[in-house]
Amino acid sequence: MHTITAKQQLSPNVTRLDVEASRIATIRHPGQFVIVRKCEGTERIPLTIADADEEKGTITLVIQAVGKSTRELVAMEVGESIRDISGPLGHPTEMLTQGRAVCVGGGVGTAVVHPMAQGLSRAGVEVTSVIGGRSKEWVIFEPELAELGDVVVCTDDGSHGRQGFVTDALKELLDAGGIDILYAVGPVPMMRAIAELTRPYGVKTIVSLNPVMVDGTGMCGGCRVDVGGTTRFACVEGPEFDGHEVDFDLLADRLGTYREFEEEASCTSETSGRCSGDNCRVGLTR
Ligand code: NAD
Ligand code: FES
Repeated sequence: MHTITAKQQLSPNVTRLDVEASRIATIRHPGQFVIVRKCEGTERIPLTIADADEEKGTITLVIQAVGKSTRELVAMEVGESIRDISGPLGHPTEMLTQGRAVCVGGGVGTAVVHPMAQGLSRAGVEVTSVIGGRSKEWVIFEPELAELGDVVVCTDDGSHGRQGFVTDALKELLDAGGIDILYAVGPVPMMRAIAELTRPYGVKTIVSLNPVMVDGTGMCGGCRVDVGGTTRFACVEGPEFDGHEVDFDLLADRLGTYREFEEEASCTSETSGRCSGDNCRVGLTR
């Protein structure tokens, strides 16, 4: 059992939970993730280890409440316990030991970028972070990243930092030159756009992929992605890959596979007697 020691609302649908997991806190590396099961019989949810405190024996999980299971997880309070946390899983981030790295985080992906930036900074690499959100309230991890280097904040509506997507700010950094490696984590369209943006500059671009995961140990095949024309399992061979080699169309397609099942699981129309979603397809199938 893993007790929740702290809880914080980071943005309208993103929650931070600090959870007791002392062994994982000690041995984890940037880029690794855990698989969480709230209680017996519930869905297994892959979550990046956004931070860890070895002294307290806690790890930080950042959860975007998008479906039934993640909503149940963020409804938990300090003092309650999560049944299982398996990990650390996945390959650690490929680190530079010198030079300059740019870390790009879009929305909740910024929580995944944070441990990368932390590891790079600790290794002596100069880190510039470019982070984006729909508006000010959706920007997360800005203070934490500011402790590690320069931060450029972008919001779609211009309510904080500069107006525009992260790609707009990134283009200026690329034009200025001097970037040895770039890490990007966020929505698939963002990672695809960044990979296309950096390609002509020849800047190595690492993306962290978030396909559907079930076991997290390379056995179910649920997390398969295409990288350079080869099928790779994100859970054991990733989740980070060369962004210039990733088939983002296939990734987006596979991410949509279970959307209908998720909507059905989240549907409250049977218990509430009314459908709450404007675009809900579940009501149509019942
Ligand atoms: P969002 O849609 O609000 O976008 C956040 C920011 O990303 C935007 O403000 C913008 O700066 C940038 N962005 C978005 N689309 C872009 C585009 N087409 N071109 C350039 N920049 C773009 O983000 P959100 O709702 O917080 O993100 C949710 C998505 O992130 C989910 O689909 C989730 O699955 C994914 N995600 C990915 C990972 C991962 O490991 N790759 C981790 C967590 C979440
Ligand atoms: Fe099952 Fe990767 S999650 S093989």
